[in-house]
Amino acid sequence: MKELEGNIAIVTGGARGIGEGICKVFCNEGATVFLWDILDEGELTAKKINEDGGDIFYQKVDITSESQVNKATDFIIKKFKKIDILINNAGVIRDRSFLKMSKDDWDTVININLRALYLTTQSVLPHMKSAGYGRIISASSINGFKGAFGQTNYSATKAAVSGFTRSLCKEVGKYGITVNAVAPGFIKSKMSDSMPKEVIDYEIKMIPVGRIGTPEDMGYTYLFLASKKSGFISGITLHANGGAMPN
Ligand SMILES: NC(=O)c1ccc[n+]([C@@H]2O[C@H](COP(=O)([O-])OP(=O)(O)OC[C@H]3O[C@@H](n4cnc5c(N)ncnc54)[C@H](O)[C@@H]3O)[C@@H](O)[C@H]2O)c1
Repeated sequence: MKELEGNIAIVTGGARGIGEGICKVFCNEGATVFLWDILDEGELTAKKINEDGGDIFYQKVDITSESQVNKATDFIIKKFKKIDILINNAGVIRDRSFLKMSKDDWDTVININLRALYLTTQSVLPHMKSAGYGRIISASSINGFKGAFGQTNYSATKAAVSGFTRSLCKEVGKYGITVNAVAPGFIKSKMSDSMPKEVIDYEIKMIPVGRIGTPEDMGYTYLFLASKKSGFISGITLHANGGAMPN
């Protein structure tokens, strides 16, 4: 029996990077996955995973839009009557030292990384509650804990994800719903590729296991928390960083 057999999962930001890694691992473990992304690239990602035997649907969803989020949720509920797993993975950076940071840099990151967490979770949670089962896992970051030059906006949202997680788990545990976060370290993706080369080289040098993380590494980390077997783990932030930060 596969780990996620019969589970319906939403993965936000699944078009590429870590989200794509999560979609692949979840599909291999038997889940039916709904990939939410603003990028049309999501269509191709879903097509490739389907060709490899996965069961995955692309829905073009901007997670900052309440109406788009609710419409996509309603579609899944009409079709499958339940949502077992919500992965709040989509996120962005707008790095700039704080004195140079514009209100737009600040607001964009808060809006996508934090405000959207409200919208997606509000939309899906009532269905988990009525089913008496759910797994909600959201993307924090190592930099929400250790801080990073140029990332006051980003670090603030990622620390907030862990706080949100600790509080929500207390409210919904009685409905069979666990709420956790994953704090990735330095992982190969468009987001990390966009950083200056000297930052990338430095970050990799600081990883005790001696390599950058992969989207699949993260897929397995999310899988651990998404599994039915992890029902006694709730409210935690799981650090997956190759030892780059003491937990
Ligand atoms: N890559 C890393 O080293 C790293 C480290 C720590 C945490 N993280 C976190 O992991 C998550 C994934 O990061 P990644 O490196 O794969 O980034 P990425 O930029 O490669 O992928 C992010 C995805 O989110 C999607 N997205 C952005 N805004 C959206 C919106 N409004 N609606 C729907 N989708 C939207 C993008 O289109 C993209 O497909 C993020 O939350 C990020 O903060 C990444």
